[in-house]
Amino acid sequence: MKRKTAILLAIASILTLNVAAVARDPLSFEGQSPKILFLTMPWGEEVTYYAYEGIFYVTNVADSTYQTLNYYVPAEKRGAEFAPILMRNYVGGYMAAEARRPSATDATGRALYEGYCVCIAGARGRDSEQGGAFTGRAPAAILDLKAAVAYLHYNDHLMPGDANRIITDGTSAGGAMSALLGMTGNHSLYRPLLKAMGAADSRDDVFASACYCPIIDLEHADAAYEWTYQCVDQATRGATDEQMAIAAELAAQFPQYINELDIHDGEKQLTALNYRDYLKSFIIASAQRARNEGVIIPDSLGFTFYAAAERRGASADGTRPSRLKRMPRIAHADRQSEFVTDVDLDTYLRYVATRTPLKSTPAFDATGVVGAMATGENELFGDASGSAVNFTAFSAAKSGQGTVTPEVEANVKLMNPMAFFQYDTAQHRIARFWYIRHGAADRDTAFPVPINFATKLSNYGLNVDFALTWNRGHEGDYNLDDLFTWIALITRP
Ligand code: DHB
Repeated sequence: MKRKTAILLAIASILTLNVAAVARDPLSFEGQSPKILFLTMPWGEEVTYYAYEGIFYVTNVADSTYQTLNYYVPAEKRGAEFAPILMRNYVGGYMAAEARRPSATDATGRALYEGYCVCIAGARGRDSEQGGAFTGRAPAAILDLKAAVAYLHYNDHLMPGDANRIITDGTSAGGAMSALLGMTGNHSLYRPLLKAMGAADSRDDVFASACYCPIIDLEHADAAYEWTYQCVDQATRGATDEQMAIAAELAAQFPQYINELDIHDGEKQLTALNYRDYLKSFIIASAQRARNEGVIIPDSLGFTFYAAAERRGASADGTRPSRLKRMPRIAHADRQSEFVTDVDLDTYLRYVATRTPLKSTPAFDATGVVGAMATGENELFGDASGSAVNFTAFSAAKSGQGTVTPEVEANVKLMNPMAFFQYDTAQHRIARFWYIRHGAADRDTAFPVPINFATKLSNYGLNVDFALTWNRGHEGDYNLDDLFTWIALITRP
């Protein structure tokens, strides 16, 4: 009898094990156990948090180094169970990015400090290689990040944090990823690709997106670049006559693009005729905010200020008041009034080009065009053999490549948030809230690129907080007080 019981128990346990093995869902968060970690904020306070690390977010793992996510939960704040989730990616230059740990000096550490959960997902990139094949070319990175979002939705009932309030964040190519996550929630074009990777069968939409200097709209970015920087002369650019001729051709494409983009500033349709003024308004607003904070703006940048001080002192007949003559001589900059009234756009753009030399021509789709080397973007659209390809008809014709293949064309679309304003199905969701920053001294892509994106979002009735940030170059996760004020505002219960 005893022996029989033992045998039965053994059989039962084997059965249970088998049932468990069959039932175990590789994409379930269940059973994940955390480590406890600490982070010291720059001002000395310590944050304790739970860390769940190295979680595969797809079942058909092509790259075990990059296709994982890390998940972090603040341990000492109440409400983490239902807290919004900051999802930061570290994609840069379209290169592969591993899932990292939070940093005390960027938005991830700050998010934990504020009581939010944090997800840092890795993603393959243009440099990813497996057995001699390039496995991270477009659209791998966005597929990986969307699969990570799907994991969070799929496990929402098992994980601390609220997957209905995911806020994505990234810089540059990572800003493009953040913008794509915000624009392409549940979009049908990505569905079969995600399914093939073994992503969780779940939603992949997000609540809000923070995008710093997003490198987007790649198929129009070359024209925007040359149109914007026409005022920078050949010597400053260090360009050949051939390159200048290409630059002029590209610049000439921009007016038609803007005219057809169908964007509005309030009631006013934006066209090539009024677009320079529109661009100026963002640069003036940037300078104005700087003045409000007491920044002195060098005269050489081309701004004009309201001449209130002089007017106040003027005599009734308009002659120069004697009182002014007795005033001590002071530097012009110190007499700047509070109000920025105008900017000489070309002077300002030339200043930007002296801060960091402009990219050569074409800025993005360069490979083979008058002898240019491949850019990161050319590699992004290359194939598994590691090729670098042209992705615009213009550069393909100039380089001798000929045409853009339908496959590359499809990938260009999958990487461009500007291509998803049309809702394709009832499931497609665009994030409701947007925080977009582009440095007012950032020349990595031209100002119209983020401006057009922010404008189009706003025209679609989405909630957009957009600015060109004074004196900032190509960087992200700055002015975290501002970012987290916005997050608090949009996630207020
Ligand atoms: C990045 C910068 C670029 O100038 C570019 O063309 C693409 C990506 C980056 O920093 O991620």
